[in-house]
Amino acid sequence: MNMQKILVLDFGGQYNQLIARRVREQHIYAEIKPYNKITVDEIKAEGYTGVIFTGGPNSVYDPASPHYDPAILDAGVPLLGICYGCQLIAYMAGGEVASAENSSEYGKIELTVDDDILFDDVPKNSVCWMSHRDYIPSAPEGFVTTAYTAQCPTAAMCDESRRIYGVQFHPEVTHTEYGKQILHNFLYKVCGCVGDWQMDSFIDDTVTALREQIGDKGVVLGLSGGVDSSVAAALISKAVGKQLTCVFVDQGLMRKNEGDFVEETFTKLFDMNFVRINCGDEFLSKLKGVTDPEDKRRIIGTEFYNVFWNRIRESCGSGFFAQGTIYPDRIESGKGDASKIKTHHNQVGVPQDIHFEDVIEPLKDLFKDEVRAVGEKLGLPRDLVWRQPFPGPGLGVRVIGEVTAERVRILQEADAILRDEMDKCGYAPEMSQFFAVLPGVKTVGVMGDSRTYSELVAIRAVTTDDFMTADWAKIPYDILGRVSNRIINEVDRVNRVVYDITSKPPGTVEWE
Ligand code: XMP
Repeated sequence: MNMQKILVLDFGGQYNQLIARRVREQHIYAEIKPYNKITVDEIKAEGYTGVIFTGGPNSVYDPASPHYDPAILDAGVPLLGICYGCQLIAYMAGGEVASAENSSEYGKIELTVDDDILFDDVPKNSVCWMSHRDYIPSAPEGFVTTAYTAQCPTAAMCDESRRIYGVQFHPEVTHTEYGKQILHNFLYKVCGCVGDWQMDSFIDDTVTALREQIGDKGVVLGLSGGVDSSVAAALISKAVGKQLTCVFVDQGLMRKNEGDFVEETFTKLFDMNFVRINCGDEFLSKLKGVTDPEDKRRIIGTEFYNVFWNRIRESCGSGFFAQGTIYPDRIESGKGDASKIKTHHNQVGVPQDIHFEDVIEPLKDLFKDEVRAVGEKLGLPRDLVWRQPFPGPGLGVRVIGEVTAERVRILQEADAILRDEMDKCGYAPEMSQFFAVLPGVKTVGVMGDSRTYSELVAIRAVTTDDFMTADWAKIPYDILGRVSNRIINEVDRVNRVVYDITSKPPGTVEWE
């Protein structure tokens, strides 16, 4: 039997990835597609078990608002519309969507539900999360209203015979008290899902498929030491052992001792060929005198590309090429690209003169939390599995201005102290990312009885769900005090420490 799967049809809402993750948490595979990239016939042919229409920022009557083929209502596939998705269903079914000044609801709202399969095991009154301007005055023909709030006469509706459901609120958001139960009811009771998406079976199935695909050929993978490429390496190693060659380019811009940690992990715990290229000096000579952030990113990206592919050309330019691409890297959104703030180097394209049989991306359908779960099951160390994001250009964009060996050393030492203190006090898991920056500012200080004129170190720490926006972390003063004391006492050439209290926007997480 084919695995069951749910389609999350994206109408531009902000919670689309969250919806897909909530479905997967219930052990059902979910995919996200932009509303204009899949037709009703394709939905039927793909055999989706159910479809969820997401929210979106528009009003159904806006000429520019995203619409969908009403044939979906008679396609025989169970349907759940959320927020805009619910209004769109009402509109497609010939009903009315209205807008009134006092009809908008935002935040936690008291919800009352009727007897309906979608609300099995949901109490008559509970709290839901609303975020809408338009509303549905009454359910369209063929539908009945199944929930309401003080402001919203149709907070949920259904056409049981066609298995079409709609909710004005957001069940995917944790503020909706019974959101999980409501999604569960739709998935298991309406769509008839059985929960066949499990991490253990994912590992077994993927290992079997990899063995079949790779046969007795070789596989090359570029290992960065980040979560995704590490988990991909562990998975492929489990499948084909020494047929896998991991190439780890150590550009000398990693955190203190990080290169050694990566090497030790993969040579001691996993069966594979591990190639480490130490090329810190070459990178530094290319970066000599360069201060512009985008120039530095470009140079580091190009140099990495050259070193990596030259090594592949020398030894193993055949067989398969593997990458740690994960699902969010592939999700297309209908919203258009936001203007570019800075260049992120993640995927490495294969040069035209190198020919692999195929590119293998064993994690391409997984979200980050699923990748971590797979990593833990495969026995990767916790420090690696729960590693914070680290920019491709490494400390090259945390040493502001020119990157020199001495300045990288100062930053590595300061950063290691910050990390050590955060781990010791147990505050680290509270934060999404924290690190030290060397802004390239010298200040006057006094140590002992002497005047000093030395480097300033900045501490950056943020909390965020998605790194698109972030808050500066409210680290307790005593922890900051200890970090500052230790950095000034233990790191040669630093005499002042400051804490960055800028959120994103207007700042970005990294300084460059
Ligand atoms: P910004 O500075 O853009 O950072 O607010 C958002 C997140 O992305 C990380 N970052 C990068 N990641 N390659 C990466 O893989 C890059 O070039 C890069 N630049 C920033 C940053 O650490 C933060 O987590």
